[in-house]
Amino acid sequence: MQECSIEKAFSSFKPESCIFVISVDAAGKPSGMIAGWNMKCSFDPPLLAISLQKKGYTHELINNSKEFVIAVPNKGLEEEINFFGTTHGDEVDKFSATGIKMSQSKYIEPPLLTDATINFECKLEKKVVVGDHILYIGRVVATYINEGKKVLMNMGQGNDERIFEEF
Ligand SMILES: Cc1cc2nc3c(=O)[nH]c(=O)nc-3n(C[C@H](O)[C@H](O)[C@H](O)COP(=O)(O)O)c2cc1C
Repeated sequence: MQECSIEKAFSSFKPESCIFVISVDAAGKPSGMIAGWNMKCSFDPPLLAISLQKKGYTHELINNSKEFVIAVPNKGLEEEINFFGTTHGDEVDKFSATGIKMSQSKYIEPPLLTDATINFECKLEKKVVVGDHILYIGRVVATYINEGKKVLMNMGQGNDERIFEEF
């Protein structure tokens, strides 16, 4: 065992589920990003948390709309993960560019991802500034599953290495 940097320790702390976080602007136009830093935090009420960098377009959309969808991908969505996780919604329309399929949510404006394995409709419950990130805690108001589809995890050991496997 040897002492290492926090960057090395965090980037080796895998696998990580790479979920889509989708929100909308004031006109209802959707955009989103990928967040590997995510967790379930409560059953009653049902709460999920995502940790987002303070910069970034999706973070701005969530701050304003107070609503977001968390979509858990499978192996069919790797290209879209790479695109949503490396481009910025104020520079490119990620939905048109990828053609990713969306479905209407029941209680919130941001859309669901039709082909994702699991979708959660979330209303912003609480926002906690945690160092250089912000923890957005969402109250889940509706959940959807595509039975038979699996969940994709990123096994890559580096910060930018992505090796996807399904479980
Ligand atoms: C596999 C993967 C995991 C990521 N995890 C996070 C994360 O947990 N938090 C975060 O703020 N950004 C994360 N990112 C980076 C954002 O998805 C990326 O900065 C994105 O381009 C932001 O888009 P936006 O500016 O349109 O919101 C991740 C990217 C990838 C590819």
